[in-house]
Amino acid sequence: MRLDKFLANAGIGSRKEVSKLIRDKQVKVEDEVINKPNHKVSYDNLITINDEQVILEEYIYLMLNKPPGVISSTEDGPTQTVMELIDHPQIDELFPVGRLDKDTTGLLIISNDGKLSHSLLSPKNKIGKTYEVDLKEDVTDEDIVKLEAGIPLKDFTSSPAIVKRVEDRKVELTIYEGKFHQVKRMFIYLNNEVVELKRLKFGNLSLDEMLEQGESRYLTDEEVNNLTQLV
Ligand code: URA
Repeated sequence: MRLDKFLANAGIGSRKEVSKLIRDKQVKVEDEVINKPNHKVSYDNLITINDEQVILEEYIYLMLNKPPGVISSTEDGPTQTVMELIDHPQIDELFPVGRLDKDTTGLLIISNDGKLSHSLLSPKNKIGKTYEVDLKEDVTDEDIVKLEAGIPLKDFTSSPAIVKRVEDRKVELTIYEGKFHQVKRMFIYLNNEVVELKRLKFGNLSLDEMLEQGESRYLTDEEVNNLTQLV
């Protein structure tokens, strides 16, 4: 990658601004002053500006505890997006891995790894997503049998779900697809209504309950390894 791109991607400034820094001989690569913006560098080069290291991460994996009222989009618009909750110098490269509805809370992975994201979302990998579901009406034993068998919806029939009753009107539900409004639609089929929905798990990754709504943190190496092993 070009040195000016590296610095711009690391959030140092615009391409024009970082090119000026480079021409002004303020940037070193492996302790050598480089004054050409097109000088080629890689992620593991030591790059400094006035002796301070500039970090550019190749792969970034974050978990966000999504609050209600924000949309899972990267597009700027009138409604706040999950990306506006993330403070990272490489924000322009990041995107949410899949979507949660505006009113859904909980675990959302934010990354710049398109390949892993694609695999995690691919229906053929059948990765479980676990939700805590608060309902308007009691969940009957019959409902649980139906959820465990698969619910016929307009566009598809859900794979057998795993259901754990937490309270009369609360279940933990693991589904293996990620279709639009899927959990809400499954309960509409059962003549019930989702009043609150929170994602607790994505595959083997659990929401860190220490994260307040709106907070994010890096995934640990172990969490990333565990996720990559799913695909
Ligand atoms: N199912 C839904 O209905 N909404 C979500 O946000 C996620 C799963």
